[in-house]
Amino acid sequence: MLTPALDALRLFLHVLAASVWVGGQIVMLGMVPAARKISPDAPRTLARAFARLSWPAYGLLVVTGVWNIFAESSVPHSTAWNVVLGVKLAVVALAGVSALLHTRSTSKVGLAIWGSIAGVTSVAALFMGILLAGSWS
Ligand code: HEM
Repeated sequence: MLTPALDALRLFLHVLAASVWVGGQIVMLGMVPAARKISPDAPRTLARAFARLSWPAYGLLVVTGVWNIFAESSVPHSTAWNVVLGVKLAVVALAGVSALLHTRSTSKVGLAIWGSIAGVTSVAALFMGILLAGSWS
């Protein structure tokens, strides 16, 4: 009886965390040039504030992602679904590592490269999540 409610809670938390992790990075991309005009230190202050939200969201993605896998393990899935899941996990790991290297970077080139990789891999993980949730599985 509780299963549909728990499924809704699991997917709600996963999507909420994805919206903070992915959407936040896109918003930061738009805010940083404007923040730079306010003060040279403003982008760093914004980035620190975002990190306080984005890392808990990443943690919630991993926890609810593992919950998703357990919940989905009772349903048979195609090889393609399992391949998408495997690729998604690698892409999520790359997103986390590159976001970490982005925050630790001291050069402009490092910030740009690691920030771009974190953004592209996070959007790719979002797309693969939609694939996994589709009805073809
Ligand atoms: C950047 C990180 C991630 C993003 C942006 C992301 C995004 C998403 C989205 C949007 C969905 C579709 C949810 C729905 O509406 O049904 C989804 C589903 C799924 N995700 Fe993630 N996810 C991430 C990390 C993870 C991780 C770390 C795991 C595993 C440890 C995972 C496993 C899954 C599974 C198995 C599904 C299918 C759930 C179902 O259909 O019941 N995800 N993901």
